[in-house]
Amino acid sequence: MGFPPVPPTCVYQRSGIHDAALRRGYEACRRATRATGEIEYAVSLLLPPPLRTATWALYGAVRAVDDLADAPGSAGEADPGRAGRLEAWISAFDTDVREGRGSDPVRQALIHTMLTWNLPPGFLHTLFEELRQDVQGRQFTTWQEWRNYNRLINTPLMLRAGSLLLRAAGLSTEPEAIAASVPEAAVAWQTAVDAIYLTDALVDLSDDLDRGHVPLPQEALDEVGVRRTDLLARRATPEFEELVRRLADRARTWLNRTPLPPVLHPAVGVALGAYTDLYRLRLKAAADVPAALLHRRPALPRTARLRLLLPAQAKAALAWGLFPFPIQPCPPQLAPAQAPEGPGGAKETRSPAAQRHPAVPPPPHPSGARPPQLPGEAMPRHVAIVMDGNGRWATARGLPRTDGHRAGADALIDVVHGALEIGLKYLTVYAFSTENWKRPAGELHALMCEIPQGVRRMVDEKLDVRVRWAGARSRLPVDVIEELLEAERTTRDRTGMTLTLCVNYGGRAEITAAAAKIVQEAVAGKVDPGSISEHAFARYLHVPELPDVDLLLRTGGDQRTSNFLPWHATYAELLFLDTPWPDVDRRTLWDAIEQCAHRTRRYGSVPRIPAQHAPRGGQGAPAT
Ligand code: IPE
Ligand code: IPE
Ligand code: MG
Repeated sequence: MGFPPVPPTCVYQRSGIHDAALRRGYEACRRATRATGEIEYAVSLLLPPPLRTATWALYGAVRAVDDLADAPGSAGEADPGRAGRLEAWISAFDTDVREGRGSDPVRQALIHTMLTWNLPPGFLHTLFEELRQDVQGRQFTTWQEWRNYNRLINTPLMLRAGSLLLRAAGLSTEPEAIAASVPEAAVAWQTAVDAIYLTDALVDLSDDLDRGHVPLPQEALDEVGVRRTDLLARRATPEFEELVRRLADRARTWLNRTPLPPVLHPAVGVALGAYTDLYRLRLKAAADVPAALLHRRPALPRTARLRLLLPAQAKAALAWGLFPFPIQPCPPQLAPAQAPEGPGGAKETRSPAAQRHPAVPPPPHPSGARPPQLPGEAMPRHVAIVMDGNGRWATARGLPRTDGHRAGADALIDVVHGALEIGLKYLTVYAFSTENWKRPAGELHALMCEIPQGVRRMVDEKLDVRVRWAGARSRLPVDVIEELLEAERTTRDRTGMTLTLCVNYGGRAEITAAAAKIVQEAVAGKVDPGSISEHAFARYLHVPELPDVDLLLRTGGDQRTSNFLPWHATYAELLFLDTPWPDVDRRTLWDAIEQCAHRTRRYGSVPRIPAQHAPRGGQGAPAT
């Protein structure tokens, strides 16, 4: 499968975008990208159609918002027209995200891309927040301020684009994860973004001056003695030429300092390489004509541009042909634009406001089964489950293993309903272990789609369940992290039951991280090492309030705990069932709880026995 530039209709066809209104939205984004992002557009053509359309939607929609903020208003600093237009767009975007549809074509394309690739809206909101401030005209005093601004606005956007490329490479990790696991990588990534935006500041200088903005830190002007007034009056002084020289040197150093991230897919390497090379070219084009920057945007020299792009296109087509686009995006759930409300109409995907409404009781089991009545003291407080056997369940049915994970998500929802019905206070489930990264990329990708979808489904049930997440961020895709944090935020006022999702969880890692935190605090003098009790130690674990496990249940036939809750489960009753997890429902949980209720728990002590049976001397009988 090669990807030379093909007519948009064909690209949409090959991206699975068939709806006419949706295509119009993507077309608007494509044109905005082509008009305003010469380099981004050129690089998008090196990508396979589904990624190409996603790039257009992300870049084009952001340009649309950006243009609203930058649109020239009346003379004067405050321009309620610009601010008002921006607010209207953002608020319509929020409504559209909530309703899972787009009420204008650009928003529709953007939301479609977000749903298709399971991208969280959070990073766009960071961007919107900054754009709000930008409407007033932003000034930077120091380089530090300028870089902070980049960190808030531009880096999240670049990370998102980077994450799409990584997915194309079949990697389940996100740039944040790479940044977290490779020393200096976070700094390198930030430096790359700074280099790109400093180059853009030079290239876009005349447009910014048109709007009365100077997009550079005052510190940079002071160093060479350039006055803002001279800049705004477009006076090409020798100091200005020196300023351009210094800025170009700075950007060049940053650009050259940035190593390309390790790339598994050669075509992704080609795209990233072309992107960086085009930026070098753009920087050179700007640095070559300092005085002209005051009046116009320098164009990329055509011949040099083609010399770069033509071989890149050939190489990308060859690489995609040899190693086809390895993944499928998650199926979108976008309702048609302007779809009528009501039954079968717009489908709500997430509504934080609605989730604050009173909790909904769990629906009964279809069989009509009711939970057993257990005396209060026999009822476990905390049940933990290793939800195992998904893969074998699917394989036994001739299905791909990933279907087992999907069926497993249904089983979990029913078990949560049953846990609420029986009055359990804490349920903890093992969804993904730190060891599970050893699985094949395809299964990892499916799990990284399934897990956030399952979390969202759970939250959308609006049960009286507080969701907690136990696990590490490292290596976890940023959208999975955001979904888990969002679930924790949305449900934090629920009190019926705490459902702890162990995602990217490893028991030893949890204990090691807790120990490391304590050592850090001890070194800083905040904790007295002599005062660390077991109770105090537990406060450093992922979910500090999680009580000891009473019953640890594992489905799927294996009899081991696989690094699950070693701290909390030291005295748990263990129960191993052969049933694979997708075949489990709430009745399995109730049975397990009943079995546990009949066990005698001694905690190292001796059983209490009636006085007349007690042996002489008052010592307990041997354990029975
Ligand atoms: C448990 O099911 C789910 C995860 C570990 C993510 P498995 O995928 O381990 O299923 P089996 O054990 O291979 O059948
Ligand atoms: C344990 O299951 C982890 C989860 C259920 C998430 P595994 O299937 O990964 O466990 P092992 O590798 O068979 O011990
Ligand atoms: Mg397993």
